[in-house]
Amino acid sequence: MIDLEKKIELIIGKKYLKKFLEIYENFSSLDELSNINTVIDCCSGNGFFGLYLLLRNKVNIIAIDNNHTKKAERLESYFYLNHPDIMDRYKFQKLDIEKYKIPVIENSIILGIHACGDLSDIIIENSVSNNIPFIINPCCYNKYKICWKDSKIKFNGNLGDYVDNLRYNFIKSKYRKVILKTLNNLKNGSNRLIIAIP
Ligand SMILES: C[S@@+](CC[C@H](N)C(=O)[O-])C[C@H]1O[C@@H](n2cnc3c(N)ncnc32)[C@H](O)[C@@H]1O
Repeated sequence: MIDLEKKIELIIGKKYLKKFLEIYENFSSLDELSNINTVIDCCSGNGFFGLYLLLRNKVNIIAIDNNHTKKAERLESYFYLNHPDIMDRYKFQKLDIEKYKIPVIENSIILGIHACGDLSDIIIENSVSNNIPFIINPCCYNKYKICWKDSKIKFNGNLGDYVDNLRYNFIKSKYRKVILKTLNNLKNGSNRLIIAIP
């Protein structure tokens, strides 16, 4: 495991690895997620987290983003060259989740690491309407619109707390288990993790 982590650290960098490890540790041991075989890495950006999971677990990864970055393409090429054995479990899909639905796949979980503003809410809405587990690590609360509009709860001054509490309460009304946590290795304002299990 140490070797694998060193290798991942070289590929994605120390800062990202620390952040991913903390996020990963928070959900990987949950019994309720033991049947998951596909992770939909939504708003995947450079694809770091999906590729990290691919190396560590026997899961399938579907990375979704409306922009396939040059960095993601280079990283995928590196993996196809150096780890061809695992890349048959990886797929990138260019998709605008504001316009199109996130694919629904049996035994999957939707992941949204730094899905900015409303993108986190789109993940919540897509997951809840299909009763699928999801994990979000939201950010950019100022881009946030969806939950504001019908809320009767008074805004208390900290936008992140307010928004994530609304999200938490909404999910709690629909799902059996919701975990809202503050992470140590991420900057304030993008350091909350919500794990939701139907
Ligand atoms: C802050 S980045 C997070 C990237 C990655 N998850 C990470 O943690 O490094 C947000 C990502 O959302 C993607 N994005 C923005 N709008 C989107 C949309 N409408 N549909 C799909 N992806 C979108 C962006 O292209 C960007 O890669």
